[in-house]
Amino acid sequence: MLSNRSNPGPAPAFHSSWRALSHLPHCGYAPLHVDIALLRDTLGFARRVQQRAGPVSRAILVGRPQALLMSADALETVLMDTSGRVSAAGGWAPFLGELFPRGLIMRDGEDHRVHRRRILPALRRDALDQHLARMAPRVDAAVQSWVQAGQLDLHDAFRRLTLNLASDVFLGVRETADIEAAHHDFVQLVDASAAILRLPEPWRRHTRYGRGLAARARLGAFLRERIAARRADPGGDLFSQLCVLSDEDGLAFSDEEIVDHMIFLWMAAHDTTRSALTTATRALALDISWQSRLREELGTGAAARALPDLEALNALAGLGWVVKEALRLFPPIPTLARQLRADMQVDGQRLPGGTVVTLFLLAVQRDPRWWPDPDRFDPERFAPQRADPQRHRHAWVPFGGGAHMCLGQHFAQMQARLVLRSLLARGRWGLAPGSAAARMAFAPIAHPPAGLPVLLQSV
Ligand code: HEM
Repeated sequence: MLSNRSNPGPAPAFHSSWRALSHLPHCGYAPLHVDIALLRDTLGFARRVQQRAGPVSRAILVGRPQALLMSADALETVLMDTSGRVSAAGGWAPFLGELFPRGLIMRDGEDHRVHRRRILPALRRDALDQHLARMAPRVDAAVQSWVQAGQLDLHDAFRRLTLNLASDVFLGVRETADIEAAHHDFVQLVDASAAILRLPEPWRRHTRYGRGLAARARLGAFLRERIAARRADPGGDLFSQLCVLSDEDGLAFSDEEIVDHMIFLWMAAHDTTRSALTTATRALALDISWQSRLREELGTGAAARALPDLEALNALAGLGWVVKEALRLFPPIPTLARQLRADMQVDGQRLPGGTVVTLFLLAVQRDPRWWPDPDRFDPERFAPQRADPQRHRHAWVPFGGGAHMCLGQHFAQMQARLVLRSLLARGRWGLAPGSAAARMAFAPIAHPPAGLPVLLQSV
């Protein structure tokens, strides 16, 4: 069994940490106003701060003095640090610490490396083939039912689909009766991670946050009850894999570690993939020429409707560019959190040990230095003939980078391509008339606040 040895240490007191950042340009927003601006208009906020204060500035965000990092250089320095001066646990603790304790992102250093290495095989390429074979028929059946309906909110439909796929591929549970309560608890838990009001006991019980914590306890029990059976008779699902995986020293996860990893993986995978699917289908609804182009790439008839394997999905180059461009314009997780354990020089500024930093992936992915006409949907940016050797290595970072880079990035892109391919093979879609779905918000995750109502016609 492994212990969580990643303790970022106590955060320095509020006043001294704010004073320690006094040499940095101020972001220009008063406390609270920062939070409101960031929630309401994340991209506008990032652009105004970049303009006023440059790539490294200071702010009091969610009640914590911190440095805001908005350049590719700054992101690279922090994400790629290998000297142990950067803690992911320290950055994410206030948001995820109680809801997802001991998940991978809440671990640092050697402890993190050991756990990550042990989980990796469950998401490797040969495992992806199996996951794809399980998902493809379910995806196609769902898409056929949507086309029959003709009009629906795709953002909502993607939630149901990704939950059902996760139950099967992640949990190995197909029976509706077994899974409905777990789905409900999971949605409450994810919802709680965006809660601003986090009261202590006993006041939290009737708040969104308190309900999320109670849901987590029930999910833990749901998983714990099934561990022994999975160990005795493992399936091809991720949960079974976690129950039987061991490293080269023969060390396996304890029951509590399985529960912690499983709940975090489930959360990390769910809303992010749903967001990517929504932004890609929204972009294709707004740009019909790309929809037609992808349909041509796919071809027609029985071959286009056949269930694909990984090779067939990867052969659709244009589809891959569309997914990447949607992730550039609307990174599902627009900002990342870290805490520095020691002094660091970041994009020309000295940041003292203890500093909390927020990394603005969104600002870098919309930076005109790396992306000409940055707000335009232009999937061909990712075509090999347009590869730009001058583009910064960390100008496209929807999956982060370095030690904590997303473990599910290949899984997520595979799932997004699978769903889009099936939609393209079976239907043609546009935004429903009068729909407000063109408006996007980024907090807490990239999404259309009014959903994505579409008209979907059979092809
Ligand atoms: C489009 C979908 C996805 C996006 C945009 C995304 C994005 C990210 C990002 C930005 C991080 C880094 C967080 C940080 O450094 O602070 C991350 C970490 C992670 N993601 Fe994803 N993710 C997606 C889907 C998935 C899926 C499908 C899975 C699982 C199957 C997954 C599992 C994880 C895990 C386990 C980590 C933590 C890795 C570590 O700490 O070592 N993600 N993800």
